[in-house]
Amino acid sequence: MSAEGAGKNDFSPGLEGVVAAKTAVSEVDGANGRLIYRGGYLIEDLAPAVTFEEAAYLLWHGELPNKSELDALRAQMAEARKLKDSTRSVISAIDFDTDPMDTLRTAVSAQGATKTLTKPSPEEAIALTAVVPTIVATAHRRRHKRDVVEPRPELSHAANFLWMMDGQEPAKERIHWLDQYLVMLADHGLNASTFTARVVASTGSDLTSCVVAAIGALKGPAHGGATFAARTMLDNIGSVENVDRWMADQHAKHARFPGFGHRVYRTYDPRAKILSEIAKTADPKLHQLAAHTEEVALKILHDAHPERPNATNVDFWASVVLTGCGIPKELFTCVFAMSRVAGWTAHVLESLDDLRIIRPASVWIGPEPGKKPQPVDKR
Ligand SMILES: CC(C)(COP(=O)(O)OP(=O)(O)OC[C@H]1O[C@@H](n2cnc3c(N)ncnc32)[C@H](O)[C@@H]1OP(=O)(O)O)[C@@H](O)C(=O)NCCC(=O)NCCS
Repeated sequence: MSAEGAGKNDFSPGLEGVVAAKTAVSEVDGANGRLIYRGGYLIEDLAPAVTFEEAAYLLWHGELPNKSELDALRAQMAEARKLKDSTRSVISAIDFDTDPMDTLRTAVSAQGATKTLTKPSPEEAIALTAVVPTIVATAHRRRHKRDVVEPRPELSHAANFLWMMDGQEPAKERIHWLDQYLVMLADHGLNASTFTARVVASTGSDLTSCVVAAIGALKGPAHGGATFAARTMLDNIGSVENVDRWMADQHAKHARFPGFGHRVYRTYDPRAKILSEIAKTADPKLHQLAAHTEEVALKILHDAHPERPNATNVDFWASVVLTGCGIPKELFTCVFAMSRVAGWTAHVLESLDDLRIIRPASVWIGPEPGKKPQPVDKR
């Protein structure tokens, strides 16, 4: 259904097929299994070639940075890594066993709190993107009752996160795997969290509010929470011998396999292909289990719905790669947010050029009006 063609009584569950924005930030070409980033870059060309900082610059500005532009962005991001004192206090006030995504949502809100409403700006996009890893690592170390590790300005975005999380110099390979993951997850068309950010922006609200709302949308297991769920599934399966029985049991219970299926991709998710290759080196043992699980899952899904190609999506293989990077699964959705914040902010900034409040219609399914309310003692 096109934007022009949508009538008042048309209803598309899950807004499937509804066109709700024009964007040059990224395009998911579901029919051909392609993800295209701003400027026309295919994800398989971009991911191995650039760092997260370069990809974020591309999403914000429409072009890859030259050396001096990249140096300037790195310096700006390094400066913005520090937490405000009030954000530290907010993190310290949160219960130790709080879900890391809830701490992230709350701390981003504290970090972006201002005296009056502000208009989203490129500087704020950079600052929010730069500070998310510090929040995630700080909250993680506090949760495990370990000393907080301060950010280091000379490290890249990916390296600095691993440093703050572990308090140890990260190995080169781990930095590169994480960087590729962060580049690949940074944007993905009008996915649920990006749409959420654009809805908030459409009311004239501030950038932090857009990002906080988007974090809430990302948390769900149908969206960003699927990486954690995929890793939990692999943990529950435990070994290659258990795969067939475990998957058949789950399917009999009508449970969904996390990391499979997609609203838009009708062939395959190109990010899953790239990550499955990285996973071979990042965690060979887990890769072996995952590869067999994938094979069995695809057969079950195909037999159940031959007409609907429920292929492997990015979250399945991301769960193996992030494990190989040494990231605990409780942080998987937060690390997804660390990447996607670049896309959310790019979409919000883009939407400012043609701002119109997003306000769809609904179909009334209640009774005919005219009922008279009775006083409470007569009901
Ligand atoms: C991603 C997802 C939400 C897309 O949902 P959608 O476009 O609304 O697709 P539908 O929910 O209409 O699914 C269509 C059919 O495929 C089945 N299906 C889709 N994904 C499935 C999965 N992962 N496992 C088992 N069955 C699945 C559904 O059960 C449904 O069959 P039914 O009509 O017999 O119930 C869905 O595939 C899913 O829940 N996947 C698991 C979570 C996940 O990996 N999310 C990350 C996405 S990147």
